[in-house]
Amino acid sequence: MRTKIGQSGMVEVDGPPSSPRRRRRPRLRSVVVTGGAGYIGSHTVLQLLLGGYKVAVIDNLDNSAAIAINRVRELAGDHGPNLTFHQMDLRDKPALEGLFASTKFGAVIHFAGLKAVGESVKKPMMYYDNNLIGTIILLEVMAAHGCKKLVFSSSATVYGWPKVVPCTEEFPIAAANPYGRSKLFIEEICRDIYQSDNEWKIILLRYFNPVGAHPSGYIGEDPRGIPNNLMPFVQQVAVGRRPALTVFGTDYSTEDGTGVRDYIHVVDLADGHIAALNKLSDASIGCEVYNLGTGKGTSVLEMVAAFEKASGKKIPLIYAGRRPGDVEIVYASTEKAERELNWKAKYGIEEMCRDQWNWANKNPYGYEPQDHTT
Ligand code: UD1
Repeated sequence: MRTKIGQSGMVEVDGPPSSPRRRRRPRLRSVVVTGGAGYIGSHTVLQLLLGGYKVAVIDNLDNSAAIAINRVRELAGDHGPNLTFHQMDLRDKPALEGLFASTKFGAVIHFAGLKAVGESVKKPMMYYDNNLIGTIILLEVMAAHGCKKLVFSSSATVYGWPKVVPCTEEFPIAAANPYGRSKLFIEEICRDIYQSDNEWKIILLRYFNPVGAHPSGYIGEDPRGIPNNLMPFVQQVAVGRRPALTVFGTDYSTEDGTGVRDYIHVVDLADGHIAALNKLSDASIGCEVYNLGTGKGTSVLEMVAAFEKASGKKIPLIYAGRRPGDVEIVYASTEKAERELNWKAKYGIEEMCRDQWNWANKNPYGYEPQDHTT
């Protein structure tokens, strides 16, 4: 195998020079990102572009805004033209076929999916249809077009209520709701696919709690409706959209009684995907799982205090009972990712809160202020 710099400035991988007929090989640096207009997706697309990748984003814009794509393109500067956007639902197989037939992709990073735990309990079929069927169709189309490299966004939710922390990748997995089960099932599907055809190279990334935003304050998280997660809620209190944060549970056996999580800066998380993509070129990789976290646990009250310090805003609190389905303490063991992906989170909660506030302050009503009633 040889590498050379192509006309486009991209690194191309050629077959041996003695090959009688040179087959068209997928360009390893041309990737599809499903769900690329979403929170983690948009930050990852930006890091990919800045790293010299060509990116085809697929998104149905169900829970994201096309503006995010435009902003990523602007932030990427000279690399912006390497981004193409395809508004498409993964369950639309002919459309997906068309895209894969038009371009030879080296790999897919698969974010697209629904992710609200409470909604998944009320509408399980919607979750299974969207998350599972969408993924199955994606995998079928990839295989049909010889694109067998995948990075999948799984979640620390598959650790359930861990008996001990930090969570290592070998822990047993379980799920407490349809959203979590959709992640767990997709992980299992990926393992089965690899068993049946070891040309596949698959990395399952288990995210802990992504927070923060790009330091420019130009892209960030913009949930529709009332936020389910802690930091989007805190940011909406800070900008005056909500009167107070409800703290769910003050009687956990943690230092201050509130739940402890492993918050990770979304830019660190995005960089973890580049590391995973690089790893897919390793001959030794089959179907592997990696945690993406910082390895540090932070309580709800510690996080609120850090945000108050970063923003100079007081966050009024209402203390309430535990949220059903919540766990006490979850944080990652980061050793495997550090050792094998050569990746480690750089930012702490100070930077996470600084960048979350910067985004909130510049975009108090998100990407499309006219679409928000609160
Ligand atoms: C939640 C999901 C998890 C999903 C993850 C995505 C549940 C039970 N779990 O995880 O499946 O993968 O989001 O990021 O929904 N908190 C408050 N007040 C709030 C919101 C949250 O006190 O208004 C507390 C929670 O009780 C928890 C911590 O803040 O202790 C973090 O909550 P959250 O941001 O929702 O994340 P997870 O519960 O870890």
